[in-house]
Amino acid sequence: MKKNTVLVGASILSEDFFDIQKTLKKVNSSDLDFVHLDVMDGVFVPNISFGPAFVKNIRPYSDKFFDVHLMVKNPLPYIERFVQAGADLISVHAEAKNSRKCLNLIKQSGVKCGIVVNPKTKAGAVKKYLSVVDCVMVMTVEPGFGGQKFMEDQLSKISKISDMIKKSGCQIRLEVDGGVNFDTEKLALKSGADTFVVGSFLFKQKNFNATVKKLKLG
Ligand code: DX5
Ligand code: ZN
Repeated sequence: MKKNTVLVGASILSEDFFDIQKTLKKVNSSDLDFVHLDVMDGVFVPNISFGPAFVKNIRPYSDKFFDVHLMVKNPLPYIERFVQAGADLISVHAEAKNSRKCLNLIKQSGVKCGIVVNPKTKAGAVKKYLSVVDCVMVMTVEPGFGGQKFMEDQLSKISKISDMIKKSGCQIRLEVDGGVNFDTEKLALKSGADTFVVGSFLFKQKNFNATVKKLKLG
């Protein structure tokens, strides 16, 4: 992922998994930069979505970059399977077990890695990971469900992390996940974010690709 351009990805979480080929066709023929895949274990978050088999099954149906977001309490035993399933980037939460070991394993497997922070977690929690990660992701909703309202109190954290990334001199994307629409994207962009996950706002639009294009303009 290149730095300084705005990247936009679609979260398919709120879409009908039975009709996933239709969703992927829409995504594939758009200007989206990536597909965001929300993996939930029912322990780290109060919801269950899908696992590595689903990612593997849909992989042949899209050439887009697969950004796999693990909302999993103990992700380490599953990393290898998400790598095998064709993930291009795997992100784990700073609040999860063995985050550092997970990131190392993801990197060793030749896949990009990211660290994610929940709304209640402070900016400082990502500092120790900056030398390893390709991406820091800030949750702007409590993880678990699509369609929630963007938490504006996360903007100061985005600014702090943006400064930390600049100071580190590392090439790291700053991604925002949850409640993104045209207005909240602008707020996060001003605070230093450069990569956006958009779910319900995007899929409810009549003109899908016009929305993607507008989001990509920032
Ligand atoms: C929340 C997920 C998000 C979410 C985004 O737990 O990690 O990726 O599905 O969807 P919207 O854009 O609807 O908030
Ligand atoms: Zn997500």
